[in-house]
Amino acid sequence: MRLPLPAALRKPGKPGANGRNQGPAPADLREEPAPPPSTSERVLEGTKEGAIDVAGWVDQRTGASGFLTGMLYRKVPKGTNWYYTLGSATLFAFLFQAITGVFLAMFYTPSPTQAYGSIVHINNDVFLGEFVHGMHKWGASVMIIVIFLHMGRVFFFGAYKYPRELNWVIGVVLLILTMVMGLTGYLLPFDQRSFWATVVASNITGTGPVLGPYLADFLRAGPDIGATTLARFYSIHMLLIPGLMFALIGAHLYLVVKLGTTAPPWLKAEPPKAALPVERVSAGANGGDGASPPG
Ligand code: HEM
Repeated sequence: MRLPLPAALRKPGKPGANGRNQGPAPADLREEPAPPPSTSERVLEGTKEGAIDVAGWVDQRTGASGFLTGMLYRKVPKGTNWYYTLGSATLFAFLFQAITGVFLAMFYTPSPTQAYGSIVHINNDVFLGEFVHGMHKWGASVMIIVIFLHMGRVFFFGAYKYPRELNWVIGVVLLILTMVMGLTGYLLPFDQRSFWATVVASNITGTGPVLGPYLADFLRAGPDIGATTLARFYSIHMLLIPGLMFALIGAHLYLVVKLGTTAPPWLKAEPPKAALPVERVSAGANGGDGASPPG
C-alpha cells in the first residue's frame, strides 16, 4: 500500500521500479477500465489529498522532510541488533511517563491535606484513573531498568569512546535526572510511606560532604518536611526535570544521528575495496621491487 506522504518523505523506490510507465501491457493482460469511485471512496481520496497538502505546506515552510528522510533512512552499521533498541525503549518509557503524568496532574492536588485524598479519588472515582496511576508508578521502575540496560549496552560495546564522549556525559546527566524524578515523585502521594522515605532520603543527602546539608535544606525547603516541600517536589517533578530532560534527550538524539551508532565490538572492520592485496603490500608495493625486503 502506498502511504499518503509527500514525495520527499517516501522511501526511494528501487531503480527501474519507481512507478514510471514501462510501456503498454500486452492486449491479453490489459485490465478492464475501473468502475467510477463511490462517494465514500471519493471522500477518502479527498481526505488523503487534504492531508498531503497540509504536510506539503508545512514541509515547504520548515524543510522538515529533508531532516526526517535523513534520520529515518540513515544507514546503521552491520551487526546492529536488539541491544540497540534499548535507547529507544528508554525514550518510549520517558514519553509514556510524560503522557500519563499529564493526566494525573489534571486530578492531583499538591497540598499536604489534600494530596492523599486526590490520589484515592484518582484510583477510585476517575475513569481509568487507577490504570493510568498504575502505569505511571510501574513505568517509573521500567524506565530505571531500561536506562541502566541501555547504559550497560553502551559501556560493553565501547560506544562511549571518541567521538561519543559528550553523548556519554549527557547520558550520565539524564541518568541522574531520571533518579531525581523517582525521588521527587515518591513523595507526591503524601502517605506514611512516601513521607518517611523522603525523611530518610533527605537525611542521607544531608550527610554528603560540604554541599550535603545545603542540598538537604534546599530539597526540604527548610529544616522539616512540610507543605513547601511538597510544592517544591511537585514543581521539580513536573516542570523542572522534565523540561531539562526533553532538552537533553534532544541533544542526545541529535548526536546519535550526527555521529551514527557504533558497530558491535566483535565485528572486524572490512578493508576498503580499493586497498592493495596483502601480498603486494608485504612484497614492497611502496617503492620496493618485490624481490628484496622493503628497507
Ligand atoms: C532518558 C534517557 C535516555 C534516552 C531516551 C536515550 C536514548 C538513546 C537512543 C535512542 C540512542 C540510539 C540507539 C541506541 O544506541 O540504543 C542512544 C544512544 C546512546 N546513548 Fe542514550 N539514552 C538515554 C540515556 C543514556 C545514558 C544513561 C547513557 C550513558 C551514561 C547514554 C549513552 C548513550 C551513548 C554513548 C549512545 C551512542 C551509542 C552508539 O553510538 O552506539 N544514554 N541513546
